[in-house]
Formats: sequence, structure tokens, C-alpha cells
Amino acid sequence: MPPRITASAPSPFQKLLITRQPYRCLSCSIRLSQSQSESAPQPQNASSQPTTHFGFEEIPSSSKSSRVSSVFSSVASSYDTMNDLMSLGIHRLWKDHFVRSLNPGSKPLLPASSTSQEPRTEPWTMLDIAGGTGDIAFRLLAHASLLNNDHTSRVIVSDINPAMLSAGRTRAQQPQYAPYAPRLEWLEANAESLPPSIIKDNSIDLYTVAFGIRNFTSPLKALREAYRVLKPGGVFACLEFSKVENRVLDAVYKRWSFGAIPIIGQLVAGDRDSYQYLVESIERFPRQREWRDRISEAGFLVPGVDERGEGGWENLTGGVAAIHKGIKPLNGG
Ligand SMILES: C[S@@+](CC[C@H](N)C(=O)[O-])C[C@H]1O[C@@H](n2cnc3c(N)ncnc32)[C@H](O)[C@@H]1O
Repeated sequence: MPPRITASAPSPFQKLLITRQPYRCLSCSIRLSQSQSESAPQPQNASSQPTTHFGFEEIPSSSKSSRVSSVFSSVASSYDTMNDLMSLGIHRLWKDHFVRSLNPGSKPLLPASSTSQEPRTEPWTMLDIAGGTGDIAFRLLAHASLLNNDHTSRVIVSDINPAMLSAGRTRAQQPQYAPYAPRLEWLEANAESLPPSIIKDNSIDLYTVAFGIRNFTSPLKALREAYRVLKPGGVFACLEFSKVENRVLDAVYKRWSFGAIPIIGQLVAGDRDSYQYLVESIERFPRQREWRDRISEAGFLVPGVDERGEGGWENLTGGVAAIHKGIKPLNGG
């Protein structure tokens, strides 16, 4: 970000007016999103360099992960507070529901092998991708321990951003999370190319990704990696912002997200642009049905699809967020 030269520290009101990029109003953001949402995911620019979207901007694919990384480095220290403010605390309910629906640590999880019907009794190995500050990982272990009396299952929290992981490690020392710290590992890695020597083929029982996958340069590559690392019968579970189906709720939601969130980001975190990106990235993520189809095309069995091909996801708060799941087939090893 280019340095800003100011004679004295700006007041909060002046800060609101300082933006790195031209200000995008609610209506122009929505128009831009509508005109862009039909575009192919990987268009080429004039120099034939593959491009992708960064919010509503079209950028070279090669620079997306560093741009995303600088967003999360910038928001890491205020991320948890901002999550509460932006979602009015609702993200906690969504995450609780997401984890409850996965019932981590329950036994039996899988047959010992595709040829044996004996239940497995060993602990789960869970991988929380784009795990950030550990919100999902702590919940997975708390659920396994407190509801399923499972004190051995473990979670690898993987994220591309060291600042987010570092905030998570610090949280893990807080008294309420400390009992789970020995069962957590923190891994800095890109979800699109996990290190095969650390996350081996067919080694993971449960793969979770919450509010992360829309930031990836190629969600499809991440899906292929999820398929590689999951055991046959293992579960891919994604919690992500999605599309609101009710028009009135959608209008209220868009006004809140485009109107208020960047301003809250400016006031609380001193960073309007990062939060502008976050709301734009939500607009660019595929609709529920399309995302379900991509999971299925990656080889997963999608539970909940009816005989007419409808369903296969769970909407939360009218579609503000949605849960998608996929199961790696037992013969898919
Ligand atoms: C909105 S945060 C979500 C954090 C956490 N899962 C939660 O629900 O609170 C998104 C996270 O995705 C991470 N991320 C973005 N691109 C990634 C990539 N290619 N591979 C792994 N993590 C990535 C960011 O660093 C950030 O920590």
C-alpha cells in the first residue's frame, strides 16, 4: 500500500474519507458485480495472461494469493472482533451449527476398510483449511471432547497466512482453549497445493473450510487437494457466504454488507479496503447450486440431493451463508 503523507493524524471522520481506491458506492458495487458475475472464472487479458477476480477487480491470477495474503495480514489482529461486529455475532451460531452437524469424534466413523464392516475405533484426524485464528478447530475439539468423550482426535489448522496462524496460536493459550492446544498443529500452507509429505494421500477423516474457499485463486484446485488427502468415506465440509434467496432479505443484507461493513472496517481496524474486498469476494462466489455441482464434479458424493436433482446444501439465515458437504467414495482411494 503506498504510504499516505499527512501533516497530522487524521480524525476518524477524515479516515472514513481516505481510501486507497476510488470509493465504490452500494449501487455501483452491485451493478459492477452483476455485470461481472456472468464472466468466465479464468478470462485472459490482452497479453494472454490468465486473470482472476479480486473482489470486483480483475487481476493476474499469479498475484491473487499475495493480494489476499496482504488483506489477511492487515486484518489478523482485529479479525475476531470484526467478525462479531460484521455479522452481529451470528457467525458464532453458524460455526456452532456447522460443527454440530459434523459431530466430530463420534464413533464409529468409518469401516476399517472397504472390505471390512468392523467399526474403526481410532481417533479422527481433522484438517481445518484456511483455519485462520482457529475458530473452527477449537469448536471441533470441544465438541469431540465434551459431547463424544473423545480426547484423542486432533486437528491440523492450515492457513496460507502466518499472521492469522500466529493469532490462533496466541488464542490457544487462553484458559478456555488451553486443554485443546496439545491436539492442535498449525501448518502454513496453500490449500491449493498442500505439502504431500505432511498431508499425505488418504490420511484425513474430516476436511473443513469455513469462510476461506472464496479467497482462493482456484477453489477447484483446493477441491482436488481435499479429494487427495481425504480417506475413502471421509467428509469435505464447507461453510461459506452464499446467495440470499429472499429478495427483501437480500436487499437488506446488501445494504448492510456494502454500506456498513467497509465503514466498520475503517473505524475499528483502520482498513476500509480489506473489508471492501471481503464483501466483494462474497458477491463473486458461486451460487449454492453451482458450488454443489463443482464439489460433485471433483468426485465427491453430495448428500441430500433429491431425485429431481434439487438440494444438496443447507442455507443458513436465508442463504447469507451455506453449508456444502461431499463424501469421498469408499472406492475412491
Ligand atoms: C475469512 S478467514 C476465515 C478463518 C476461519 N476459517 C474462520 O472461519 O474464522 C479466511 C482465511 O483464508 C485464508 N486463506 C486465503 N487464501 C488461502 C489459501 N490459498 N490457502 C489457505 N488459506 C488461505 C486466509 O489467510 C484467512 O485466514
